[in-house]
Amino acid sequence: MLLLIVVVGAIILTLRLTTHVEGKDLLSVADLGTHDIKNIIDAAMHFKKNSPGSLLRDASVALVFEKPSLRTRVSFEVAMTQLGGRAVYLSPVEVGLGRRELVQDVARVLSRYVNGVVARTFSHRTVRLFAEFADVPVINGLDDEEHPCQILADLLTIRETKGDLKGLTLAFIGDGNNVSNSLLLGASLVGMNFRIASPPGYEIHGKFVEMARRFGSTTGADIVCTSETAVAAKDADVLYTDVWTSMGQESESAQRRAAFAGYQVDKQLLSLARPDAIFMHPLPAHRGEEVAADIIEGPQSVVFLQAENRLHVQKAILVHLLKKN
Ligand code: CP
Ligand code: NVA
Repeated sequence: MLLLIVVVGAIILTLRLTTHVEGKDLLSVADLGTHDIKNIIDAAMHFKKNSPGSLLRDASVALVFEKPSLRTRVSFEVAMTQLGGRAVYLSPVEVGLGRRELVQDVARVLSRYVNGVVARTFSHRTVRLFAEFADVPVINGLDDEEHPCQILADLLTIRETKGDLKGLTLAFIGDGNNVSNSLLLGASLVGMNFRIASPPGYEIHGKFVEMARRFGSTTGADIVCTSETAVAAKDADVLYTDVWTSMGQESESAQRRAAFAGYQVDKQLLSLARPDAIFMHPLPAHRGEEVAADIIEGPQSVVFLQAENRLHVQKAILVHLLKKN
């Protein structure tokens, strides 16, 4: 009986990892299976070299943002233009999600105008609620828990610079935040080892680690959580960091600067990684805090390639979710 349960469990996990079972939305990296990620990256590489044509001719997407953005907003707007459709940007003041109007009502109204929504919200609960009431695909453009579009662009960047993703080691130095949560899930789904070094009190949430370990048991990804930057960085192929204070946490910035002192990616830390390691950051960056200026400007930094790849990967995400065959 136990054997039967284990076998059925393994089959369900394998199916879960290889197929897109969650339906129409991209709210978490875990909404994708290993094959979805591979297909999106392949399509993004194709769209980077070739015009995508008008795959989403006459389609419209609304960008509903509760927080500021440079990359996410511009790359989604340009992606829709390149696909033959258009994007309508709604600023925090215009929508007033949950204040001027119920999230549920905004979702139902927009579903009658547009073919998809990209939402950047403070709370993950808001984007989940939005998706529950929307009839069209909803894409998470960053919330307090995840940043899936960024991580797909990052996986594309690593694939372009390093080749195969499986078996590589990515070391994240810093906060257990939206970017590291999504990176952990993405790495574990593609079989890339993931190490994170965070100061006490700012560790990555256990629910993401548990999920990633489950994925890793099938893909071979090894997960290490530590407070020691050197343990994480040793022989890594990719050294990744993000801001110490994310949007929405501004009142904690002094306390966070103190807690994260010693967690800067600098020359000494990068020297522990493999000699051909790349440095990554989602931007915007704070030079002198989470990263030394000479590292982000140095030859191992690929931060602007990451930013560029948002455009190409998002064309692939939009086609993956919106295109009707
Ligand atoms: N990396 C990223 O999402 O940048 P923006 O906040 O400028 O969109
Ligand atoms: N963790 C950062 C990422 C910005 C792209 C934030 O949420 O502000």
